[in-house]
Amino acid sequence: MLPILIILSMCCNLISGGLALSRHTWTYRIRSTRMSTSNETVAGGETHLEREGRGEYTMSGYLYFNVDLPEEFEVEVSIYRSNDGGATYKIEPYSVPRTGLYTAMNTFYKDIIMSSAAKCSNFPQFKDKLEPVTAQKFTYNKCVLSVDGFPTYVSDGIYKFEIKSYGLVELVFEALVEVSQKTF
Ligand SMILES: *[C@@H]1O[C@H](CO)[C@@H](O)[C@H](O)[C@H]1NC(C)=O
Repeated sequence: MLPILIILSMCCNLISGGLALSRHTWTYRIRSTRMSTSNETVAGGETHLEREGRGEYTMSGYLYFNVDLPEEFEVEVSIYRSNDGGATYKIEPYSVPRTGLYTAMNTFYKDIIMSSAAKCSNFPQFKDKLEPVTAQKFTYNKCVLSVDGFPTYVSDGIYKFEIKSYGLVELVFEALVEVSQKTF
């Protein structure tokens, strides 16, 4: 599912280089990812990190659907932040409340993830609106996410991104990401 992907691509812009040109005052590093499904017959996948250099990782994996994705399929993106090293988390205002998958794809995914996904995956690329998604397997390889679609300023902390689906199958994708300010 695409929404899941959303997050996955959210990982590591560290290795993308050219950061000097970015207005963003922060950078991040992905610490872990995991994925689960409530029914492997319907949909599932796998996600893992690949080490690219000193403490820098990219995300790879796949996501399959054995059914065409119905309009009623819903997703929710929850973003939590911890300022005590991961002991406790509080929900952040950037979270995307439970909404239709296609709505999420036409907004959140399209605005924030799609351009990064183009470079490393066969996740959907579209101009206006996403057409109905048929049963298929998506793969992504060494994905990094550009911070361009994110706020210029983000506070330090450990962020937990959780994407959850509701409907014909419950898929969960979770990533822990550490944000720190750039040092000049
Ligand atoms: C998984 O989905 C299939 C197809 O809809 C269904 O037949 C099966 O009972 C489901 N399994 C579980 C554990 O829900």
